[in-house]
Amino acid sequence: MAARLNTSLHNALSLLNPFNTPLNTKPFYSRNTFRFSQKLQSLSGKRALYCTSSSLGTVPENGVDGAETFVLTTPLYYVNAPPHMGSAYTTIAADSIARFQRLLGKKVIFITGTDEHGEKIATSAAANGRNPAEHCDLISQSYRSLWKDLDIAYDKFIRTTDPKHEAIVKEFYARVFANGDIYRADYEGLYCVNCEEYKDEKELLENNCCPVHQAPCVARKEDNYFFALSKYQKPLEDILSQNPRFVQPSYRLNEVQSWIKSGLRDFSISRALVDWGIPVPDDDKQTIYVWFDALLGYISALTEDNEQQNLETALSLGWPASLHLIGKDILRFHAVYWPAMLMSAGLSLPKMVFGHGFLTKDGMKMGKSLGNTLEPFELVQKFGPDAVRYFFLREVEFGNDGDYSEDRFIKIVNAHLANTIGNLLNRTLGLLKKNCESTLVVDSTIAAEGVPLKDTVEKLVEKARTNYESLSLSSACEAVLEIGNAGNTYMDQRAPWFLFKQGGVSAEAAAKDLVIILEVMRIIAVALSPVAPCLSLRIYSQLGYSLDQFNSITWNDTKWGGLKGGQVMEQASPVYARIELNPEKEEEEKKKPKVGKKTGKAKVKVEQTPTVAEAA
Ligand code: MSP
Repeated sequence: MAARLNTSLHNALSLLNPFNTPLNTKPFYSRNTFRFSQKLQSLSGKRALYCTSSSLGTVPENGVDGAETFVLTTPLYYVNAPPHMGSAYTTIAADSIARFQRLLGKKVIFITGTDEHGEKIATSAAANGRNPAEHCDLISQSYRSLWKDLDIAYDKFIRTTDPKHEAIVKEFYARVFANGDIYRADYEGLYCVNCEEYKDEKELLENNCCPVHQAPCVARKEDNYFFALSKYQKPLEDILSQNPRFVQPSYRLNEVQSWIKSGLRDFSISRALVDWGIPVPDDDKQTIYVWFDALLGYISALTEDNEQQNLETALSLGWPASLHLIGKDILRFHAVYWPAMLMSAGLSLPKMVFGHGFLTKDGMKMGKSLGNTLEPFELVQKFGPDAVRYFFLREVEFGNDGDYSEDRFIKIVNAHLANTIGNLLNRTLGLLKKNCESTLVVDSTIAAEGVPLKDTVEKLVEKARTNYESLSLSSACEAVLEIGNAGNTYMDQRAPWFLFKQGGVSAEAAAKDLVIILEVMRIIAVALSPVAPCLSLRIYSQLGYSLDQFNSITWNDTKWGGLKGGQVMEQASPVYARIELNPEKEEEEKKKPKVGKKTGKAKVKVEQTPTVAEAA
């Protein structure tokens, strides 16, 4: 058995290609250039909508033959209840990362889905008076509709009740079994149904309460199949010390290393008391434990429905994943259990696991089990997808926890999207219409000759790119907003409305200034498109571009020089309507100083378009 283990470890480690190269010299996604098979190239025409708003339609495929692959996953969400804002958070972040990677020209496979088996789901189906299958269909569909509302452009949606998934779980189980890592034994312990996990007594609160769900764990005794996790203690230690970037952010690595150091215990991978699950091969009295089932969704998702459903085919279509994006509560499953399972089956490991923080309400994790959730459907309906996406990505440092407040939401969105970005575009287009018949007088490259703003914008674009690459999504948003601030400062300093009035050379200079500011707007639209795709499209359309042109943008389009002389701009209309506070709040706001007030890192500009001087 030792020899077998060594072979399978060797396979896993040698397949862990990215970690054989220096980790801190290149961005993580480019370390393992994976070439797409012809088969996958031809399937890619079925890719998801990039922006699901009716106004946006579909985007043609922009990956080039042989493009590097970037496979990223969200967790597969439990269908015990419809999605809440916490579930939406991971998916929004994943979608922005996927969109950014597509802009870089990568062939992206963005995987999401639902986790539908196990006791927790069966119980909630029964509580709702439904049979489990019917319940899963309903809730899984509610995830899909939320993703549509939020403009989530996933490529694959896997349900753990899909027959193709079951086939792959069974094959994987058989591999692990053949490697001698599954055995049968009795187990007695305290079980948290919400976590679907046996807990160590020392990690529980008073009355054996689970610290995450604040509900008592139940004593269980079962005759189960076990996975020999303890065998993988040393290999896991080695992997983490050789490849510290495997777990991100770096502060989560310490947590994982200390779990491993404190000793890994084998865990049970079947349930005798749960019917709603995939039967254990050769023992239909037991079902496979939800985590030993759901994690395989990251692989089964890669297959197409009309293809042969086996592990080898699935793996050839995009494994290993470049990035598993998860919340910190399920880090142990992804950074300890999953790599050990993969090693046991002789498969390569994902390149990175990123554990983000929680959205909290009053300091407590927002969640279905605690019932303290924020309703994402309502939020999107009220404020639109761009505002929701932008707020959570900008406001919460990716990796840390973040609290939601409606006040803060409105302030940020109004200040950044409606004022700094929307208002600047509106003012500029208004002046262009009034003075230049909505037509650019010269190419933006010529207009910017000797203008320092161009260098400033180029530096900020680079800052945004490096932040997107390192998953510092809030800082990426901040860099884009700084471009907007620089554009506003330029507008205020140059005062083109005044120059137009002076006529002659001054008016010619003013016309060039407008080209410069509109070029800034164009660059903002490209750089912000991973986070706020519909807003970016609206900006692009007002700059006179078609939907097809927007759909074929790449990160290269952040280079200065896109706008050309003679290009005709559209009529100005607000790209993001300012959210009005309720009258009481408005009154409170009025009492506060209006200009230059800081909300976090951004300035609030309360005045709306156009300013008095511009309108005159
Ligand atoms: N089904 C498992 C995952 C299996 S992956 C093979 C699961 N599902 S879950 O629905 O409970 O959680 C899914 C994800 O949502 C997790 O990453 C979790 O951290 C995230 N969130 C749930 N509540 C959250 C917040 N309040 N804030 C941020 N993310 C949160 O675990």
